[in-house]
This record gives sequence, C-alpha cells and structure tokens, in this order.
Amino acid sequence: MILLTVPSLSQLLNGDVQLIDNYSPTQPSAIDKKVENLLSKMTLSEKVGQMTQITLETVSKKKKINQKYKVDPQKLREAITKYHVGSIFNVDNSALTLDEWHQLITQIQDLATQKSRLGIPILYGIDAIHGVNYTLEATLFPQNIAMAATRNLELVKKSAEITAYEMRASGIPWNFNPVLGVGRNPLWPRLYETFGEDTYLVSTMGEAYIQGLSGENNPIVPTDKVAGCAKHYLGYSFPLSGKDRTPAWIPERMLRDYFLPPFAKAIETGIHTVMVNSSEINGIPVHSDRYLLTDVLRQELGFKGFVVSDWEDVKHLYKRDRVASSPQEAVLMAVMAGIDMSMVPDDFSFYEYLLELVKEGKIPESRIDESVRRILRVKFALNLFENPYPDPEMKSQVGTPESAQVSLQAAREALTLLKNDHGLLPLNKNQKILVTGTNANLRSVLNGGWSYTWQGDEESLYPKTQATILSALQAKLGTANVTYIEGTTLDQAVAAAQNVDVAIIVLGEPPYAETSGNIHDLTLPTAQLQLAATIAKTGTPIVLVLVEGRPRIITPIVDDAQAILMAYLPGALGGNAIADVLLGDYNPSGKLPITYPSHPNDLVPYDHKPIEEDNPNKLDPLFPFGFGLSYTSFNYSNLQSDRNQISPGESLTIKVTVRNTGKRMGKEVVELYLSDLYRTVSPPVKQLKRFQGVTLQPGESKTVEFTLNQDDFAFHDRDNQFTVEPGEFKVSIGDLENIIIFL
Ligand code: BGC
Repeated sequence: MILLTVPSLSQLLNGDVQLIDNYSPTQPSAIDKKVENLLSKMTLSEKVGQMTQITLETVSKKKKINQKYKVDPQKLREAITKYHVGSIFNVDNSALTLDEWHQLITQIQDLATQKSRLGIPILYGIDAIHGVNYTLEATLFPQNIAMAATRNLELVKKSAEITAYEMRASGIPWNFNPVLGVGRNPLWPRLYETFGEDTYLVSTMGEAYIQGLSGENNPIVPTDKVAGCAKHYLGYSFPLSGKDRTPAWIPERMLRDYFLPPFAKAIETGIHTVMVNSSEINGIPVHSDRYLLTDVLRQELGFKGFVVSDWEDVKHLYKRDRVASSPQEAVLMAVMAGIDMSMVPDDFSFYEYLLELVKEGKIPESRIDESVRRILRVKFALNLFENPYPDPEMKSQVGTPESAQVSLQAAREALTLLKNDHGLLPLNKNQKILVTGTNANLRSVLNGGWSYTWQGDEESLYPKTQATILSALQAKLGTANVTYIEGTTLDQAVAAAQNVDVAIIVLGEPPYAETSGNIHDLTLPTAQLQLAATIAKTGTPIVLVLVEGRPRIITPIVDDAQAILMAYLPGALGGNAIADVLLGDYNPSGKLPITYPSHPNDLVPYDHKPIEEDNPNKLDPLFPFGFGLSYTSFNYSNLQSDRNQISPGESLTIKVTVRNTGKRMGKEVVELYLSDLYRTVSPPVKQLKRFQGVTLQPGESKTVEFTLNQDDFAFHDRDNQFTVEPGEFKVSIGDLENIIIFL
C-alpha cells in the first residue's frame, strides 16, 4: 500500500528529493522558448519575487472601514522594483466599478512593465466565485451548489464564459475558481462553493466551468478568457468537525476514489493553476506535503501549471500547524514540497526567507527556476506580455441583459421542489398570500458570501433593481394581494396568516464566507422554526422557501409545510426565479446535489456503504441526493443496453425512454447510477455515472443514450490500485434496473 509521506527535512536538505519539471528542453514550445529567454536574464531576487504574491492592501494607503483601497504609489513601486512581486490579489474590499478597476490595473501594470528592470507584468488574481463578484456592474450567478442542482453543463459553461469575459473587461486575468472540493460534510461553511457531494457531478461541472473560463483545448488563453485555479487541493472539503480549516482524516483509497478525480479532470481540461488546502490531512498540513503536491500532482496527474498557496498558509506551517520550527523552515518545507507561489499575503517575509535559503544552499536555484518557469508560462499564455492592460472596448458588454438572462435561467433550473402535497404549487395568481421570514426581503441572502464583499453581507451594495423574493412576487401578483410581515414579528405574522390563502415562509441563512460561517448545529435557528410552527396552527397552507448555502435541518416543521422549495443561493435573479416557480411561470426541474439530512447527527451521503443500511437505526435522509419534483410527471421505460456483458477496454451503450405523462411541459434530469454488487473493498450502494436533461411536451417521449467505459466500473482496490474486478454490476435509471456482467 502506498502511504502518504513527506520527505524528512534532512532528505530535503541533502537534496535526496528528485525535482520534477515538466519543461522539456528537447521540444520547447513557442512559450517555453520565451520563458527560457526571460529566465536566463533574471537575477535570483527577481525570480524569488515572481513567487511572491501580496494583497492589494499591502500596496495601498491606510483606509477606514467601508472605504475602498487606494494604491500608495510609493508602496507599489517598492513591491515591484525592490521585491519584484509576481502577483497581487484582492482582499476583503468592496467591489469596484469597471472604471475603478481599469484605473487600478493600469496603475499597477504601468509600474510593472515600465519601471521594473525586465518589465514583467503583474498577474492580478481574484475570487470570481459566482460571476465577477468584485466588479459592481458584473453579472452574479447562482452559487456552485445551485449550479450543480441544474445538472446543466451548458449553463455552467456559459456562466463561466460570461465570468471570463467580465473579468477581462475588468482587467483581471486570473480567477481563484473553480472550487473542486467534493462537499461531503454538510456542516462545512464552504459547501455552497462546491458542486455538491458526488465526485462525478463535481468533476463534470468543474470540467464545463474550466472550458467556459479558459476555452477548450487551448493552452494560449484568448483575450476574453482567463486562467482558472482548481482549489483547494486536496481534501479541504471534508473536515471532520465540519468547521472551516480544521483537519481531515482521509485514507489514501478514499482520497483517490472521492477527492482526487475532480482535480485529475481539471488538469486534463487544461487548468492553469492549483490552490492548496489550508488545512491538513492525516496530520500533514497539505502545504508541506510533497507526496500530494509533487508526486501525485506533477508525476501522476501531469500538472504543468503553477501551485499557489492559500492565504498565509506557508507561515501557518510554523505559526499555527507547528510542523516547522521557524518561519524560514516553513518556507523551506513549502517550497520543497511543491509550492510555486506564496499568498504571503501582507509582507515580504517569504521573499526574504526564500532568498536566504537559496543563498545558504538549502534550496537549489534549479528549484526556483522550476517555479518561475511555471509562473511565467501562465503569464505568457495569458498574453500579458503583449498586452497587460484592460481593454476599454470590453466594458460595454459587461452586465448585459443577455448575461442576466443566463443567470435567471440558471436560478430557475436550480430551484428544487422537495414537497408539493395536493398540488399546492403552483399558486393561483388570484390567491392572497402572506410573505414572511428572515430571508424574504433581502438581496444579500440570495447571493451569499463572495458578493461585492468577501462576506457578501453589505445589503446597501446590492443594486436596487435586483428583486427580492417579496418584490418579485409583488410584481407578479400586485401589492394588494401580497401581505408582508417581517419574520421577526411573530404575532403579526400569525394574525396576517389568518387572512390569506397561502403563507410563503422564507427561511434560511444570512450571508457568510469561510470561517465566519462555522456553526455548532446544522438545525435551523429555533426562532425560524417557531415562525413556521406557529403559522401552521392557523391552518393556512404553508409554502416553505429555503434560501441557504447548506441543508439546514428543518425536520420539526416539515409536516407543517404543504410545499417546500429549496432555493440554495440562487444569485442576483433568484427572487425572480422563485416567483416564476411559485406562480407556475416556470416548471421546476432542479435535483438535489446533496443529501438533505433529517437529523443533525445523521449526515450520511447517498453513496454510502451497504453496512450503513444494515444498521438498526436505518438511514433516514429527509430528501435523497438526486431528488426533485416537477409540476408534471415522467415515466421511464425500455431500459436497454447494447450488451449484457462487457470486457476490459470495451464500452457499453445504455438507452432509456422517458415520457412526459402529465399536463405541462417540463424538463426531467435522467440520472444513471451504477452499483458494483460484489468487490474486495466494500462497494458504495450506488454511484452517479451519467446525467442528461430532457425537455418534453405533455405526452412526448424521448430516448436518452449513455455510454459507459471501463473506468466507470473501476475503483481503488485493497492495494490502492485503480482496477475493475469482474462480476455483476447493476445499472439503474429512474425505477428501472439492469444487470451487466464485467468479464
Ligand atoms: C480562501 C481562498 C481564496 C483566498 C483569496 C482564502 O481565505 O480560502 O479560497 O481564494 O482567500 O481570497
């Protein structure tokens, strides 16, 4: 069995560790030639500077809270000409206008290209997590967890294309996205940044996003595309405690079966950079893990881009994690493990220590060259040397109605109808409704963290033109038919509920990002549960709308609600999309990308092991992964495969017919699951292998076809080898099943 190992410090110091560079001098590409030429002219200080990334704040004047950063020319000049920094990135700042971005990036690039000795442009990086959330005019999309519910790869790709365009139009060529962690702990506050709990879903959504962001199969990024950053490598999304930046304990087999594939796919798709997990796996902080950062990432997966640390995480090896006994040793460990660029973020200590380490002979200059090559290659690929400046012509196409339409469509397709007793939904447009609940009349809650500010909670920054759920319903029904009582006034809400036909109660979470979203209990706060339970006593039918980044427990009020709509964090057009679905102007088709748990201590994903089902305390999810209702109904028939036996190297075609048996047009997401019935490592009960959305008119049927390949049947065996064991596999689609024999 392969063990996770980190070379000892003495190994590192004695040079016992082989360096890995994908640069191939025998066949240099055009970019490689430019890189070598530039590298040969660089001093050691200039090289070490390229590996240093600092925040905008570090080169800005002091400011008051709520003010925007203004560059301090003196500090910027020092950072660029004295420390030769390679990259600057955003901090917890409020969003800028396009004009402000143009001015800022121009100021930075002027200095870098005209005042530094070699004129190397700065690589500016930003977290454009759901659209270009730090540009005021940009289009904000649903967060990734909602995008995953659409099961619509084209929409994901389209949203990433718009994001790339709007980033370039802001003058920013590098996005710290997509998040490719598989969200297998629903407590984790960054769950909403993921594409859900399933490895295949995360891999395919990530692939579509990268294609949209950087273009397909194109190592040279066109000027309306940007470099992406697959993050956070690896295992960050599965902290044992559920709190952000806390340890994960993940055996190698599980790492390989569940957490590695989305990164492997991203590398295959041409991702330019990778950001590292801030925390630790099995006691080893990932920033110091040469096995993961070099052996697996470079040698096995063939990653050729560069690896950036997360916020302050090189320092953390000493300050927090205590695996290095001095700040200098922390730099040594991180660089020798495989970090190419350090998000320092607010001083030049990394630069100073790294310089010392090379001068003292503790790190070979060849190791520095390796990182600088990787960084320069990305700068060349982005055409930054040819043109580092924002293009004013692009501004007019930012935040267009067409882009908003894509965001609206994504929000509509994400909305997941979890319950609809007696067809309460869609509501009749003549009905009188009460709208109440903490999240009914706010814009920030629809967007969540990473929206205009890091935490996304500055309500005043959201454009007044953006609808809340309340205003979108009022626009459709007229204000006379809609009573609004803020969720905090229980008595008034109960009184109002007695005078309406239906109560729409909008519950969920406030915006948050990273550690500030840590919670001690997955259950929705008591006051919110109480609001629903008290209104239920009036006998007025209840529609529960959940606006939340993770599945907060609602079990105590589930029976009180006749209908439940999961809205996730549906983005800027989320209010409109919710009104469309509640009033029947759009037929919902979203499917849960996560298991919705019933109990706070029963957090078992859908692809669990058979033993979980053999337990006297039966698994009891509130709503399973893949669940989602429609206003029409669908029937599956004719599940057929072109063969019932498959040999190694062969593929298999599976067909199924889906029919709309209801009275409305609707989209059905057809999902194919595979179950390995017997194998030497206990198999998951089922795993998602393919999905495809089909839109059907009433009475219409279509045949959907899927192809499975050998790898779909494979797993990591007892020796951690990726293999297929011959035997029986069950294919299931809808309520149909078929047995396939792998020979
Ligand atoms: C987050 C990263 C993010 C970085 C820069 C860190 O705190 O973990 O995901 O890219 O900050 O904003």
